[in-house]
Amino acid sequence: MQKTIIQTVSKGIKTSTLFAMALLCFSQANAQVEKDKNVKAFEFLSNSNSQDVRKAQEFKNGAVVSAHPEATAVGVEILKKGGNAVDATVAVKFALAVVYPNAGNIGGGGFLIYRSAKGELNSMDFREKAPALAQKDMYLDINGDPISEKSKEGHLAAGVPGTVSGMVELHKKYGKLKWAELVEPAYQLATKGFKITKQQANELNRLKSKFQQFNPLGTVFIKGEGEWKQGDLLVQTELANTMRLIRDKGRAGFYEGEVANYIVEEMKRGGGLISKEDLKNYKAAWRAPILGDYKGYKVITMPPTSSGGIALVQLLQSIAPYPISKWGHNSDSTTQVMVEAERRAYADRAKHLGDPDFWKVPQKELLEPAYNKSRMANLNWDKATPSTEIQAGEFAKKESEETTHFSVVDKEGNAVSLTTTINTSYGNYVVVKGAGFLLNNEMDDFSVKPGVANYFGLIGYEANAIAPNKRMLSSMTPTILEKDGKLSMVVGTPGGSTIITSVFQTIVNVIDFGMDMQEAVNAKKFHHQWLPDRVDVEPKALTPEVQQKLEAKGYTFYKRNSIGRVDAILVTKNGTYQTGADPRGDDTAGGW
Ligand code: DON
Repeated sequence: MQKTIIQTVSKGIKTSTLFAMALLCFSQANAQVEKDKNVKAFEFLSNSNSQDVRKAQEFKNGAVVSAHPEATAVGVEILKKGGNAVDATVAVKFALAVVYPNAGNIGGGGFLIYRSAKGELNSMDFREKAPALAQKDMYLDINGDPISEKSKEGHLAAGVPGTVSGMVELHKKYGKLKWAELVEPAYQLATKGFKITKQQANELNRLKSKFQQFNPLGTVFIKGEGEWKQGDLLVQTELANTMRLIRDKGRAGFYEGEVANYIVEEMKRGGGLISKEDLKNYKAAWRAPILGDYKGYKVITMPPTSSGGIALVQLLQSIAPYPISKWGHNSDSTTQVMVEAERRAYADRAKHLGDPDFWKVPQKELLEPAYNKSRMANLNWDKATPSTEIQAGEFAKKESEETTHFSVVDKEGNAVSLTTTINTSYGNYVVVKGAGFLLNNEMDDFSVKPGVANYFGLIGYEANAIAPNKRMLSSMTPTILEKDGKLSMVVGTPGGSTIITSVFQTIVNVIDFGMDMQEAVNAKKFHHQWLPDRVDVEPKALTPEVQQKLEAKGYTFYKRNSIGRVDAILVTKNGTYQTGADPRGDDTAGGW
């Protein structure tokens, strides 16, 4: 194996021209991104609950942890009725599309990991696709410079939605209850309305001018008079009609007929690209999950089109040789080794990962323990490794801010870990007229130009370039852990580029630091993504002493309000389901 790995960790001056160019583009684009976008996105992820110290709850017969209390209640009800984890997943997914419009979505996509009680493993990629008319340079101006807002806002930013196809395929394969029964709660919530939370009221007020700009014909998200307040009833009549069609016609209720017409008309009005053919052709893909091992736990996680699973396993392999439990949670040595692992894994992500239907991802090589160990060989305990000295690994050629996550486990032990998104909060701000749902701005997850940072500051190259019908690279990391052949943990989170590092830390918090599920979720997090070369930290993630020690070694820190919003379930030794619902949001655990 060693022979196939030619690692090029160049030293300073040997840094390639490509990298230097990328760094320049990156810093120009990123300066703007950071100034006006990135921070706002993540401010949304923190709310007034963030100071509460939640305690773990335990349930015997099944549990659901999601971003909204109404959606969690829907899932628990389905489980109590005799539905399995997949039935509850479908019902929660559609309910979130109503009560959590900023991310819940039928206008976006996502990923899921499934593990049956008997140990069958599967994963589904229902990620959006670039429309057939998309072009590699579609977000560049005449000089070849990115027109940054075009991939982030408005009709042109939308990829072909995958959610409804994903849920239909999931239900077909593993569901038990009738489809209509699972969509009905979402239909009811849209018809009768639900009370918005304080956080949602603030968001809708803040985004009023965006909704006006992109919805000249009006949308329910714009309040007629005055401001939205906590507890206001949000009734979504057009969305209710869409939910009725999905309930009664399944896939055809969304990708054909009335709703498809509404989407295409909306595209025509706003200069978007999604066509009837794009909608008809969209199909979610079942893929073999990534499997890894960490200290006796089997890690079952998301393969490309997400980068999350590969990067997570790389991170776990990179830190496995170090005695972090002895060093302590977020101590200087633990933080340093995790940050250095993150820097290296994200460098690989930028170069090697993309839609596997379009790009040969060196999956086997990246998941080789020897490779990840070798990547850490130049860790210098006295000094931060500058990101300019880290390149993606090279392999010999072979012949040949806003997402949401939820976790569900049923009585039998079937489990689903699902992360879904329309990308940033409220997607591209376009609410399809007549159909009542928001579209995604997922096209921004492509690399619009080599080395230019996307919304989350991530850069990419050819592997993630735009092409017709291609899926854009993701960081979503729905994950399930198994121990001794039995279900152990169901975990995942939103948070853009911080998804991978938040899942990583949550797992390590339980396995290495003995935290219970809620403690592991509550614990303050940090994040490094190679570029920009800085450690993002939540308040109090590191003690002032630890931060000073690391600063003295050359690490720079960037304060973030909050990182991640993890919703997870841990199976305890006595077989109960222990939940962790992130206090950074309105996230709620339920069960019976
Ligand atoms: O797929 C991705 O990696 C991003 N579109 C996820 C966006 C996200 O998590 C936003 N939430 N804060």
